[in-house]
Amino acid sequence: MKKRFLRLLFLSGTLIALLTACEYDYNVPVPPTPVPPANDDISYSQDIQPIFDAKCISCHAGSTAPNLLTGQSYSALATFVVAGSPETSELYISCKPGGSMAVHTSAANLNLIYRWIYAGAKND
Ligand code: HEC
Repeated sequence: MKKRFLRLLFLSGTLIALLTACEYDYNVPVPPTPVPPANDDISYSQDIQPIFDAKCISCHAGSTAPNLLTGQSYSALATFVVAGSPETSELYISCKPGGSMAVHTSAANLNLIYRWIYAGAKND
């Protein structure tokens, strides 16, 4: 009887340890899968700026950096984007789950932002 109780105690301890280890870590990058193809056909003006227009410029229209207004957003984002590397780009980090801008960013928009940075963060 006592042995059985100890074994139960040990098992539940292991379970708790496992569950804690599996807790989602928001610091780990969450790239969309599958990874975008090379030469991904994505346009800053057609795919990215419209996200800013619809979801961001209510706040990011000048006084709050980065300025995401058309014509100014690309240069304003220079320090927030590392071309080819979404995971180290402040723009992607703040928009992904756990980031301070995540509430303003749908999964579809996050995916587009990821693809744009991954493809080299080019302007057009
Ligand atoms: C309700 C207002 C509001 C909206 C909408 C908003 N932001 Fe922000 N954003 C802020 C404020 C305030 C800051 C600066 C302080 C902070 O980080 O919370 C900020 C900071 C940022 C930063 C700088 C890095 C950081 O996390 O501080 C980036 C990049 C950013 N926002 C991107 C976006 C994008 C992209 C969108 C749209 C998808 C967006 N924001 C929508 C208010 C907003």
